[in-house]
Formats: sequence, structure tokens, C-alpha cells
Amino acid sequence: MNTLFDRYQLGDLALPNRVVMAPMTRVRATADGRATPSMAAYYAQRATAGLIVSEGVQPNRIGQSNPGTPGLVTPEQVAAWRPVTDAVHVNGGRIFAQIMHGGRVSHPDTTGLQPVGPSAVPATGDVFTPNGPRPAPVPRALATAEIPEQARSYADAARLGVDAGFDGVELHGANGYLIGQFLSSSANLRTDAYGATIAGRIRFAVEAVEATVDAIGARRTGIRLSPGAGLWGAQESDVPELYTALLAELSRFDLAYIHLEATTDTDTLLELRKAWDGPLIVNPAFPMGPQRTDRSSADHWLDLGADLISFGRAFISNPDLVERLRAQLPIVEDDQATWYQGGDTGYLDYPAYRHAA
Ligand SMILES: Cc1cc2nc3c(=O)[nH]c(=O)nc-3n(C[C@H](O)[C@H](O)[C@H](O)COP(=O)(O)O)c2cc1C
Repeated sequence: MNTLFDRYQLGDLALPNRVVMAPMTRVRATADGRATPSMAAYYAQRATAGLIVSEGVQPNRIGQSNPGTPGLVTPEQVAAWRPVTDAVHVNGGRIFAQIMHGGRVSHPDTTGLQPVGPSAVPATGDVFTPNGPRPAPVPRALATAEIPEQARSYADAARLGVDAGFDGVELHGANGYLIGQFLSSSANLRTDAYGATIAGRIRFAVEAVEATVDAIGARRTGIRLSPGAGLWGAQESDVPELYTALLAELSRFDLAYIHLEATTDTDTLLELRKAWDGPLIVNPAFPMGPQRTDRSSADHWLDLGADLISFGRAFISNPDLVERLRAQLPIVEDDQATWYQGGDTGYLDYPAYRHAA
């Protein structure tokens, strides 16, 4: 059986282990979406991961979900990412950028723009704004002719990401953001080619991937999916059929990977594994759920056919997570109060384990 500490060849990247740092929004960018020296230090501290997937990065202004998230839109944002990707590489690591378009999970107080989505259906719950949490607004339904431009925004950001030194990009197709809204049967009430049927619901995801593959190549392009998660009220009917159809379409490309969250039953996930025989990252935990990914859930999914395992919260509080897992050292619990607090507390001050002399 493969272990977390075996090497893995991911596209052109030789990963020294199979531990992936999951994407985590930490809202510590500047107000105009530039990465900071603290962000470079944070990712550099975690460079022993086989692969780092960055926090969600907006591909355009309207796609910004939270205040304090970074972008890959302006030349200044590209320049600000350079020290981050350099710091990871100098420390021996590899990093993909997660391209995250919030769609309806956004707010005019954050972007100055009415959010867009497949249909004029608001997300459930409150979204972050500079003025605190606010109910998710009603998005403007994209006209059919506008949709290709939003799909291309992922590709444009991917191109800038490569310019900024990222080794590749992961499209955020999970957790109820724009791609997930198109996949959803409750957020997507369209009757045109981008909705109504399973072929319609997967079209936006496929077009976004195809545009990105055209821009930077399939071996540098991955996508994250969360079958059946229903986050932000983006419910999905026909989960097995929907995702089997999507993976069949994505199998046309020689993608770097599919990053699957274990958000539906194991039987369905194993069927999806059969529908996708390329590189598979599994995140064994439900987002923000009570169970954090740990060594035993990781080994379980390696056993079930995952190639790589992503850990989220454990990486917040254990920068040397790979070494702690390997040497069976204690795993420190993260402090949820500092997730989105800003500043370096709860960000740069979790130390590596120190062996007693
Ligand atoms: C603070 C925080 C921010 C997150 N931000 C993102 C994000 O930007 N993109 C994403 O795909 N998932 C995001 N997630 C979900 C994680 O990637 C991961 O799926 C989740 O935490 C469950 O895995 P874990 O138990 O290993 O933490 C976030 C999770 C946390 C705790």
C-alpha cells in the first residue's frame, strides 16, 4: 500500500511525499488584493508539504468573495505573489494557486458590484463584508452571452499565476462558489445550455477547465470538487450522475489532478474514483466539520485509492505537519478564533516541533 511518505510524480512535479496542504482562505492580503511578506513566510514555513494549494484567489473583481482575499488580476497583484512563490521554492516546496470565483457568495460592500450567479437566487447565510457579516445578496443572473467571459476569467488568472511563479492552478469547483453554483440544482435554475440538464449543469465547469488548459496546459491544471456538500445552500440533485458525467468530460484532458472532498457517501466516492483514473487528491473531512483530517483518515483514503491526501486545519497549527506525521509527533489543534482575524497571530507563530536534546 502507498504511504503518505512515498514520492509521487504529479505532472512535471516530483513530490517528495503525498501530503498536500489544502486551500485555506486566511484573509491577510492588502485591501487591494496583494499578497504580503507575512503570506510569503506562512507558505514558506509549510514548504515541506508535497504540494501546497494556496488560499482562494479571485480571478476578477466581481469574483471576490471576502474582504482581504488576494487576487490574480492586476500587475501589482502578480508582482506581490512573486516573493511568495519564490519563498516556497527556495525552501524546497511546490505551490498551486486556487482560483476562486465567489459568484453569488459575495457582496457589493466588498466589491462595489452586484454579485453574479447562474440565477437570481441568493446563497443561504451571511457573507463577510468590510462592515461585518451581511445576508447574502440576490445575485444578477448572468446572460448566456456573458458566461464564456466568466469561464475565461479562470484561464486569465491561471496565466497570471504562472507569470507569478505558481507551479499550476486549482480551479475551485467546490463548496458552493461559482462553479459549484452552476453544478447545483437549487442555485442554477437556468433553462439555456448552462442549466436544466446534467449536461447543462456541468457545462460551465468544463468550459472553465478547457479555457485554463488552453492557457497553461493540462498538466498544470487541477480542479476541486465537493459532491453533494450543499454549502451556501447550493444543493445538488442526482449527485452520482452529475459527477460521473463531469469526470467523464474532464477525462478528455490530461489534468494534473482532481481534488475530491469526501462530502458524499463512500460508495459514490468510490464510483467517482472509477470514473477518473488520473491523479486523485482526497480531502477526507467535511469542510469546517467536527472531524479534522488526521493520519488514520488519510491512510484510509490512500487504501481506498487516493494518490494524495490534503490536510487543512492541521496545517494551520503544524507548519511541519509532514515531519510530525512521519515521526508520530503530537499534532497541535488550531485556534478557530484566528482563522480570519488578520495579522500574524495564529498565522506565523505556530512553531515547528522541537525535539528534546
Ligand atoms: C480557515 C479555513 C479556510 C478555508 N478556505 C478554503 C478555500 O479558500 N478554498 C477551499 O477549497 N477550501 C477551503 N477550506 C476547506 C479546507 O480546504 C478543507 O477542505 C477543510 O478544512 C476540511 O479539511 P481538514 O479537516 O483537513 O481541515 C477552508 C477551511 C478552513 C478551516
